[in-house]
Amino acid sequence: MAMEAGDWGVSREILERYLKTGWAGRRILYEDMTDSTNHMLRRAAGEGAPHGTIAVADMQTAGKGRRGRTWESPAGSSIYMSILLRPDIAPEKTSMLTLVAALSAAEGIRQFTGGLMPMIKWPNDIILNGKKLAGILTEMSARSGQAACVITGIGINVNTPEFPGELAETATSLRMECGRVLNRAPVIAAVLERLEENYGTFLKTEDLTGLLDRYSAVLINRDRDVLIHAPGGVYRAHASGITDTGELVVQKPDGTVEKIYAGDVSVRGICGYA
Ligand code: BTN
Repeated sequence: MAMEAGDWGVSREILERYLKTGWAGRRILYEDMTDSTNHMLRRAAGEGAPHGTIAVADMQTAGKGRRGRTWESPAGSSIYMSILLRPDIAPEKTSMLTLVAALSAAEGIRQFTGGLMPMIKWPNDIILNGKKLAGILTEMSARSGQAACVITGIGINVNTPEFPGELAETATSLRMECGRVLNRAPVIAAVLERLEENYGTFLKTEDLTGLLDRYSAVLINRDRDVLIHAPGGVYRAHASGITDTGELVVQKPDGTVEKIYAGDVSVRGICGYA
C-alpha cells in the first residue's frame, strides 16, 4: 500500500486501533484493491455479513458515484469505505439514511480536524470552501417482508495533492484545505462514531426529527437560491430547508412551495458548484 508520510494507511489492524464504536465497523473487510467497496459489501451481505460491517479499500478500480458517474479512486490518498446497515424499518424510510450518513461525515471530519467546518449540499455532498470534499452513494435492496439491506458508500478526498483538469474547479481534499497530510484511519473512526450515534437518533423516530437542527445548521443550500435540474428541465427556486423526512423545501418564483425528492433531481448553487 503506497502512502504519504503522516498517513499510516487504512488496513484492518490500523482501523481496529482507532475504532471505539459499539457496532459500526466491529467487523472490518479490507482490501488493498477492490472494484468498489459497495460491491465488496454487497457480496458480503449476500453471505450474511452482520449490520455494521464495513468494507474499506486503499484503491478502487470501478469506484461509483451517483447518477452512474465514476468516482476516481487512486491508491494511497483517500478514503473509500462502505457500511452495511440492516434497519428494521419500512423500506421507503431507508432513503433518509443517506442524509444521516452525510451529517455523520460532515461531523466526523469537523471533529477530527478541529478547525474545518464542512457543509452539506443537499442531500449528501460534503462541501468545503465551495468545493466537493466527499460524496455518498447509498444503495438499497429490500424484498417485501424482509428487513432492508442498505449499503452506504462514503468517499472522502483526504491526501489528494491536487485535482486535474475540470475537477480542479469543483473538488478539494483535506490536505489542500489543511495544508498537511492527514492519517486516514482516525478520520474513518470519527465518521463511524458520529454515524453510530446519529443512526440511533434516527431509529428513535424513524425520521430526521432528532437530527434536523444539526443537519440544517450545515446545509449550504438553506435560505439560498438554487438551480433545480429536474427531468423536465432546469428551474430556479429559493430553498428554505428540509422536511423531517429529508425532502428539500423550495419556493418557486411564482410563490408555489414544493418538496423536492432526492431521487428526482440534482441541485446546484446559482454561482458555481455548491
Ligand atoms: C457521489 O458523490 O457521486 C458519490 C460518491 C461515492 C463514492 C464512494 S467511495 C466508496 C464507495 N464505493 C463506491 O464505488 N462508491 C462509494
